[in-house]
Amino acid sequence: MIKYAFLTPADVGTINLDDLNSLIAQLTTSPIKHNLTSFRRFLDQPSLFQLAAFADQHLVGLASLFVVRKIEVKAGLVEGVVVDKKYRRQGIGTKMMELLIEKTRQIGVKHLDLTSHPARVAANRLYLRLGFHLRQTNLYRLDL
Ligand SMILES: CC(C)(COP(=O)(O)OP(=O)(O)OC[C@H]1O[C@@H](n2cnc3c(N)ncnc32)[C@H](O)[C@@H]1OP(=O)(O)O)[C@@H](O)C(=O)NCCC(=O)NCCS
Repeated sequence: MIKYAFLTPADVGTINLDDLNSLIAQLTTSPIKHNLTSFRRFLDQPSLFQLAAFADQHLVGLASLFVVRKIEVKAGLVEGVVVDKKYRRQGIGTKMMELLIEKTRQIGVKHLDLTSHPARVAANRLYLRLGFHLRQTNLYRLDL
């Protein structure tokens, strides 16, 4: 059975770092490796709701919701959605997104934004199926 929980800094000792770093490596080609201190610091952000999925005590999924207080609106930003390869296609990604959407509604956020590269076929399917729509905007980055 899969269990879902929002993590707080106090939960950091219950997280297996190998599971955590393996998940992060499945999310990006240039991952950073967390230790307990850096992960606690990550969790200790007032704007963050960090969802985790567990199977048999192992961390198998992650999804972050950041609440961004813009000048005109309070918005939600979804980042870091990932399910371990061995656990995909069992509905874990869908369930995590549904829980983040529910949390977003509870805290009175007007809309939820996310980005996903078109090559991420599973992720794009998932977001469209949940009702996200493509916006016409350019995404810019300044590398520093
Ligand atoms: C995206 C991801 C989180 C989905 O997790 P999951 O637990 O497998 O998701 P679900 O089981 O809820 O399935 C979600 C949808 O993706 C589809 N899907 C899953 N794997 C797929 C694949 N390899 N190719 C095409 N569609 C796929 C499922 O069929 C389902 O869509 P459907 O119900 O319309 O058929 C997971 O594939 C993943 O971690 N990918 C790597 C990291 C990533 O791309 N993260 C997103 C960053 S924006």
